[in-house]
Amino acid sequence: MSSEPTAADRYGVMGYPVAHSRSPVIHRLFAHQTGQNIQYELLKVAPDKLEQAVRQFQRTGGKGLNITTPHKTEVCKLADQLSERASTAGAVNTLAFQDGEIFGDNTDGIGLLRDLVVNRGLSIENANILVLGAGGATRGIVGPLLEMQPALLLIANRTPEKATIIADHFARHGSIAACAFDDIEDRDWQLIVNATSAGFKGEKLPYPASAIGTSTLCYDLSYGLKATPFCEWAKAHGAEQAVMGWGMLVEQAAESFHIWRGVRPDTKPVLKQLRLNA
Ligand code: ATR
Repeated sequence: MSSEPTAADRYGVMGYPVAHSRSPVIHRLFAHQTGQNIQYELLKVAPDKLEQAVRQFQRTGGKGLNITTPHKTEVCKLADQLSERASTAGAVNTLAFQDGEIFGDNTDGIGLLRDLVVNRGLSIENANILVLGAGGATRGIVGPLLEMQPALLLIANRTPEKATIIADHFARHGSIAACAFDDIEDRDWQLIVNATSAGFKGEKLPYPASAIGTSTLCYDLSYGLKATPFCEWAKAHGAEQAVMGWGMLVEQAAESFHIWRGVRPDTKPVLKQLRLNA
């Protein structure tokens, strides 16, 4: 008896722009490693077409989507159900389509934590953490970081009012404060996370170099083939460790893959195969 090969389940990443995304490569490597039959597409979708594109993907049998900049906040409205962490963050990076319903989750924070704690052995409990930026990316990581009970999580932003809104929103989850870049206090910061897009247009970075101590881990949520502006800035100001967010990228993807397929891929060989200096 001959059996027809079953069609691959469809997934993809929606963003604007999206051409730079490494998610297709990562998910193909995960699928190969775990023997899952999936296909994964790059979907460039302008903000005013988001709802239409998501609903069409669902209607035509798509099983799940990753959602990236600038749609992470807006897409929350389309979910029939949100995980607690996505609802707290007010941002979604993963959609799963099941039984005609849309489930929204956010794996960014857990992806960052896995890279920091499991891959890099950083202890977050009682640490002083400085987060630069107060956009969608910051919203996604603050809740999971606070769950690890740092001594302080300070959000600094060019527009300090936006940092204050996030700090107020998360105040009941732990020790959190907000300020402008110029008002960053001198402390022994164990971790500085860059969640801004500053520097990519060649502008000077507005952060105080005095925040970098001898044991500070400087972590950029951005990543690239060459050092990001933040990593260059950190190294130039004496940081011993300045790393890009490749590890977080692969870890958040693994969490999404687990939500969709119920299997957790091993991230180490995938990071290696990407030949990234993460
Ligand atoms: P994302 O979803 O990636 O977080 P976003 O919501 O547009 O993107 O947020 C971008 C962040 O980068 C913001 O914190 C922004 O600061 P403002 O809130 O003041 O706009 C920050 N940012 C962008 N360009 C910057 C620059 N040249 N200097 C300092 N901060 C910058």
